[in-house]
Amino acid sequence: MCEHQAGNGEPARQKEGVRNLTEKERLSLVNEPLLAWYHANARKLPWRENPQPYCVWISEIMLQQTRIEAVKPYFERFMRELPGVPELAAVEDDRLMKLWEGLGYYNRARNLKKAAGQIVNDYGGEMPLCYQELVKLPGIGSYTAGAIASIAYGEAVPAVDGNVLRVVSRILASQEDILKQATKKKMESLLAETMPRQDAGSFNQGIMELGETVCLPNGKPKCKECPLGKLCLAFREKLTDEIPRKAPPKKRRYEERTVCILESKGQIGLCKREGTGLLASLYELPNVEGHLLPLQLSAAFGLASEDIVACEELPPAKHIFSHVEWHMVGYRVCLANGLPKEYIRAKKGELKTTYPLPNAFARYTKLIK
Ligand code: ADE
Ligand code: SF4
Repeated sequence: MCEHQAGNGEPARQKEGVRNLTEKERLSLVNEPLLAWYHANARKLPWRENPQPYCVWISEIMLQQTRIEAVKPYFERFMRELPGVPELAAVEDDRLMKLWEGLGYYNRARNLKKAAGQIVNDYGGEMPLCYQELVKLPGIGSYTAGAIASIAYGEAVPAVDGNVLRVVSRILASQEDILKQATKKKMESLLAETMPRQDAGSFNQGIMELGETVCLPNGKPKCKECPLGKLCLAFREKLTDEIPRKAPPKKRRYEERTVCILESKGQIGLCKREGTGLLASLYELPNVEGHLLPLQLSAAFGLASEDIVACEELPPAKHIFSHVEWHMVGYRVCLANGLPKEYIRAKKGELKTTYPLPNAFARYTKLIK
């Protein structure tokens, strides 16, 4: 039914009013209900109580890769060990990787340290005080700079992440591909104009939080509970299943690998990965390309066959990186006369305390008792 025929009373005119709006007008109407909703529903998070710029920075980088619940323990440990910029700038790489172990995207942690170094050198160790300066630092893009500047300083700049792109696309019933930079730029400039001048940090966190708890992805938004239901075009036009639009992702490369737990005399053999590329400079269980049979292991891993006292097949495992998938088979190989010297000889306890081993190997490291 067409709403022109819905009756001529006030409610129909109001509805009409909410329908014929420019994008900016529609977004401006979000501010008030969103802030009210956020102030009533904001989750208690460790970095929210006292949003110092350093805490906001670290938490936002961690949140780019993992859910809030999973981030909390990482955040708290990180803050205990590296409570400020000078400590972060001076941390040893292996220690930093250990603190980041399990979060993935290790270059983000390396960039944290790099940026901390620049803050020590160029800003006397104090976090830069505005968006324009923050966004110059390594690893700090428009999202992170916007989050720090708005949450810690109250600067009225947007912080557009995937959640915000989804919520805003739906409110505007935008058909643009949210994976395109141009779409993000457009949403950023719209929000920069329409977002409230006061309480910008709550506004930004409010949209993110709405995206995380109400305006859920994959056709599952809880529109009936949403404070923006009256304004939202995708809801009104039943387009929430198709918005946000995303171009289909590129196919990942498929790689077969064989992973070995090499054990001898209570020690485990490790390798250190090269300084560039996937999982750069992290430690790893020895592994080679291909799915090998037990008889091929000694040649592939440089073992003397007569030293092998046991060889146990382990369950297969899969790990998905952004551009590659590893499909792994594994073996536990016990050696009689110590580990060959090309391997790093780690005591079992040191796997937990000293060597950053990426999640990709978790299925196998768990089997080391
Ligand atoms: N997701 C990422 N950062 C967030 C924040 N500061 N508040 C709520 N959700 C978030
Ligand atoms: Fe998202 Fe539905 Fe709210 Fe629109 S009404 S913002 S689609 S939850």
